Amino acid sequence: MKFPVAVVVLAAGASTRMKSAVPKVLHPIAGWPLMRHVLESVTRLKPARLVGVVAPGAAAVSQAFFPHPTVVQQRPLGTGDAAKAALAALKGHRGPILVVYADTPLITTATLRKLIEACRRDKAAVGVLGFKARDPSPYGRLIVRAGVLDRIVESKDADEAERKIDFCNSGVMCLDGSLAATLLGAIRNSNAKGEFYLTDAVAVARGCGHRAIAVEGDEAEFQGVNSRVELAMAERALQRRLRMAAMEAGATLTDPETVWFSADTRLAADVTVEPNVRFGLGVSVASGTEIKAFCDIEGVRIGKHARVGPFARIRPVSDVADNVHIGNFVELKATKMRRGAKANHLAYLGDSDIGDASNIGAGTIAVNYDGYGKHRTVIGAGAFIGSNSSLVAPLRVGKGANVAAGSVITEDVPAKALALGRARQVIKKGRADPLRAKLKTRAAEAKRQNKRQK
Ligand code: UD1
Ligand code: MG
Repeated sequence: MKFPVAVVVLAAGASTRMKSAVPKVLHPIAGWPLMRHVLESVTRLKPARLVGVVAPGAAAVSQAFFPHPTVVQQRPLGTGDAAKAALAALKGHRGPILVVYADTPLITTATLRKLIEACRRDKAAVGVLGFKARDPSPYGRLIVRAGVLDRIVESKDADEAERKIDFCNSGVMCLDGSLAATLLGAIRNSNAKGEFYLTDAVAVARGCGHRAIAVEGDEAEFQGVNSRVELAMAERALQRRLRMAAMEAGATLTDPETVWFSADTRLAADVTVEPNVRFGLGVSVASGTEIKAFCDIEGVRIGKHARVGPFARIRPVSDVADNVHIGNFVELKATKMRRGAKANHLAYLGDSDIGDASNIGAGTIAVNYDGYGKHRTVIGAGAFIGSNSSLVAPLRVGKGANVAAGSVITEDVPAKALALGRARQVIKKGRADPLRAKLKTRAAEAKRQNKRQK
């Protein structure tokens, strides 16, 4: 009988090398905390149980595990001690226990599955995912003798010959659930760091005559994050992966290296993204839409055949329907642009609802904030807002209405009405030249006076 897997995610480390007031596992890459990437990969295994191990008082980390339970590791005595703390929450579990580190965000579900399957097949007490590292120095080394995983030695405890080994420990371990308590209980802390190393479970198992195996994976999935430099490296690797996935799904990225994705960005087939675009969290773009250069886009669903940018900024939570045009230096915040609406140049539309096929002129501002509260602007279908208009919210402009350029609109405009909110123009015939002469004399007089004072 095949028992289901349980997962333990270790996130109670001291994060010393990060030099941060924020726990390491909450530092983001592609918009998500490191640990969330790990949680996404392990939950796709559909584990029977998932337990997080957190440090005392790390409420934000516990919260990030929600709805999964957490146990507290009282002191950061090492990864072995942390895994042992989790066993209390796994009483009665009979299947394999997969231990992953929350600081290894690039691991994929397929690779985790490969390890679990190999452990089942080989009836291993312990299995680890290993990889050939270009620079093995930060990692524990896997000591394999005659095809058998013998033990793992940490960098700090390795002798010169061991340090030369480039087969490294990813940190992912699969333990036979019926042996886990015995193996973890036997780990001691006589090593360079004085910590209980989870990695010693291998030597313990071997010492009891059990089988240990190493399954090799791709280095790209196992970059651990311990410092800011490694955080940046993981970010870069993940961005590369997200760009490739977007292109494989049918999006055109004219200069992929300059497009920045969030973990949840969704681009449909035949979306085109020009250079230097950042997608914040919560963006989906439907097919045929063009995102031009230098846009910053977050929290929006963009429909089909829309045109956004260059130099547009969209903030949460917005909704841009099919065939909408958003041009240069236009900012949207919590705004719905309905089908075919256009705001082509220099506008701020906040807390607004812009009707189908409406035209928002250059320089339009939805004046949504009065220093205390935010107010809504609702514009009906087919309305025309002339350039350089201030729409002082709360405000409703009816269907098909026309707001004259340069207006300050403070009262609702009925459907089909023309609204003018500006001073009436005055014409004074033949007065341009006399005005020039007057200004010229005044300037010359000022110059003379200046000289006298010096
Ligand atoms: C660990 C492995 C090393 C491996 C590397 C891969 C050990 C002893 N070493 O080293 O072989 O190559 O990961 O990235 O396991 N944590 C706790 N409680 C503790 C200590 C750590 O929960 O007392 C958690 C941390 O939050 C982190 C994870 O365990 O998520 C790993 O700890 P870390 O200190 O980063 O171990 P490494 O030195 O990277
Ligand atoms: Mg680490």
